[in-house]
Amino acid sequence: METFCKNLPKIELHAHLNGSLSESTLKQLQRIKNVDNDDISNFKFDHSKSTSECFAVFKIAQALTDTPDAVKLATSLTLQEFNDDGVLYMELRSTPRRNPKMTKVQYIQSMVDAIIDTSNLIEMKTCVLTSIDRRNTVEEAEETIIATIEMAKKYPHIIVGIDFSGDPHIGIFGDFTKILDTSRCAGLKVTVHAAEIPNEKETLEILEWKPDRLGHVTYNSERNAGSKHLWNAILKSQIPIELCLTSNVKCGTVKSYADHHFKQFFEAKHPISLATDDKGVFGSTLSEEYDICAKTFDLSEEQLWNISYNAISQIFANDDIKQNLSSKLIEFKNNNFKSMT
Ligand code: IMP
Ligand code: ZN
Repeated sequence: METFCKNLPKIELHAHLNGSLSESTLKQLQRIKNVDNDDISNFKFDHSKSTSECFAVFKIAQALTDTPDAVKLATSLTLQEFNDDGVLYMELRSTPRRNPKMTKVQYIQSMVDAIIDTSNLIEMKTCVLTSIDRRNTVEEAEETIIATIEMAKKYPHIIVGIDFSGDPHIGIFGDFTKILDTSRCAGLKVTVHAAEIPNEKETLEILEWKPDRLGHVTYNSERNAGSKHLWNAILKSQIPIELCLTSNVKCGTVKSYADHHFKQFFEAKHPISLATDDKGVFGSTLSEEYDICAKTFDLSEEQLWNISYNAISQIFANDDIKQNLSSKLIEFKNNNFKSMT
């Protein structure tokens, strides 16, 4: 099963750049910056931590990606790793930061440059989502959206959407809807981290706003601090959900893999994809996520192929890319499952 999961062409729709940095990438960034501290040994979780502890570790990587060159290098190395794991298409998200050494536009440009420079070297196709951090102000979000719209005009095939993320204990989704409307009017898709903590009121507001995709949706029903009404509203919405099993288990929002809400959404035939969230922090590749999912929920190779194939319709890139991914997945199926119809 492990080899199958590695070879299966996969679609990664929920990966944060700074949470995805591997130990070797962090070390390279340290060497370039001439810093030598053992901060990075605290980056990867070896056991479950609280959600607040989870959010604190991102600062370790962000301190190393504070110039355009560092963002570009971090992006290039991360793309290479996802490609080597058999990912065929990914949407890489990151919160553009402004500091005395770089503007938000330069931050986004560095990610784009890395994607363009690696495009001839790797098979994987990558698009960018910029993240709005809910801990920050609406003015800061506005700045990010203006920068994103400007860059999306220049690189419409690379910059395809906005992500709403950050510590769910801080900030209110409703404060950001007007500014998110602006990005939607500019043709950008939107994905929202939802129900990472029990907050039915906010989750219903998010559903009402109708994002193009949702992340996590952990506290979703009577079974886990939600209600039947909430569960029915999520299913009725048919909004695709990005599920990150190891991330949820390691942040302690889900007790164990067996308790993961993958099971309920899968059985309900709700559109879902599997994703890593922060592979550097949680120490799990997308292949490993597929393998864990298969072993926990007793899935066949055909069912895993279906999960990957169905994720194509959920991507934010255009129909040509969808067509291309579809052909590659079908080719894999024809070569690997002679009996599949
Ligand atoms: P960056 O946006 O590339 O700097 O990646 C790290 C950032 O992603 C963190 O500071 C958070 O704002 C966000 N992030 C990463 N994982 C999660 C998550 O599980 N929930 C919400 N936000 C997250
Ligand atoms: Zn996330």
